[in-house]
Amino acid sequence: MAHGGRRYARRVRILVTGGAGFIGSNFVHHLMAETGHTVTVLDKLTYAGNLASLEGLPADRYAFVKGDIADAELVDGLVAGHDAVVHYAAESHNDNSLQDPRPFLDTNIVGTYTLIEAARRHGTRFHHISTDEVYGDLELDDPARFTERTPYNPSSPYSSTKAGSDLLVRAWVRSFGLQATISNCSNNYGPYQHVEKFIPRQITNVLRGERPKLYGTGENVRDWIHANDHSSAVLTILERGRIGETYLIGADGERNNLEVVRAILRLTGQPEDAFDHVNDRPGHDLRYAIDSAKLRTELGWTPRYADFEAGLAATIDWYREHESWWAPAKDATEAKYKAQGQ
Ligand code: NAD
Ligand code: DAU
Repeated sequence: MAHGGRRYARRVRILVTGGAGFIGSNFVHHLMAETGHTVTVLDKLTYAGNLASLEGLPADRYAFVKGDIADAELVDGLVAGHDAVVHYAAESHNDNSLQDPRPFLDTNIVGTYTLIEAARRHGTRFHHISTDEVYGDLELDDPARFTERTPYNPSSPYSSTKAGSDLLVRAWVRSFGLQATISNCSNNYGPYQHVEKFIPRQITNVLRGERPKLYGTGENVRDWIHANDHSSAVLTILERGRIGETYLIGADGERNNLEVVRAILRLTGQPEDAFDHVNDRPGHDLRYAIDSAKLRTELGWTPRYADFEAGLAATIDWYREHESWWAPAKDATEAKYKAQGQ
């Protein structure tokens, strides 16, 4: 198998964990369109997994296995039969982690441990998907951005379990020679994102005639990247990344939440002040910002979706056209938020 500076010379078998989730399903579609590789998705189908996100894939290149990444026996057999693992599966929502942290420890820490143990036993190439939240947050007026050298300083149960999983992967590289790379990406948006997350929650609220809900003042800044750009970056790292290295992924998309809500309202023909302020998130990180110079200069990656407003407009159209995809989760999600005053 070719890696560490060269493109894959042949068709490889890739195990994608969490492939029924938002970014994992996007990556599977990207692999189908851009490569000839075959893919197995391993996904537990928690509330966040949705098989409808994987409909229409070619049966000769794609298989689905329902299961838990913390199931050592299942994972060992699957890893043994693949050339590479791309590990997306996680409990991913900060608000949920504040209500009930336990599943975050089970999946993000024990699940990752289970996968890297199998990958080291079988000498399998491993790419670990992580988040910029492991670095904590930046002040609003700080010109700095996160780099690969920024110290870890996570704030929430979610981000601390992701930080823990990154450190496990790093230790397995150093102690056991695990053939791994890590990427830490900023906030994704695009099709197939669960309605619990900020952008789809507000879009689907407006589509249902409800007002968007802004936590606190709305000054918090996120660095938005289209999920397709995340996928192309991950494939680039899988093919050409140096083993043992971490790469930050971002597309220079800093916006505060107020700006994003106003953009959604503008693009849907609503008055820009037609939103509600709701209870803030405890410990709410102020600002994330990514410096992706290493990925761009070392591996030659560039994002394609540079225009955030155009990507947002396309995302609004997707939710408008796919109500059957998101409607089943909407009522339960809003009931949970309402109980939290959000
Ligand atoms: P998601 O919640 O939409 O999807 C997670 C998927 O993992 C679901 O399909 C779920 O069923 C599956 N899963 C959960 N627990 C599992 C288990 N124990 N075994 C097998 N499958 C399990 O999440 P997402 O937003 O697509 O995030 C995917 C990854 O990307 C996560 O590792 C997350 O930390 C990372 N990430 C997300 C963002 C973002 O903006 N969403 C940004 C950077 C990094
Ligand atoms: O930075 C990468 C991270 O981005 C990923 O690691 C996480 O998996 C992903 O969920 C996301 O985390 P955030 O907490 O930044 O995303 P969320 O969509 O939950 O919230 C984005 C911002 O919007 C945040 O400042 C909180 C705010 N917010 C969120 C919701 C759901 C609101 O103002 N109103 C809302 O209704």
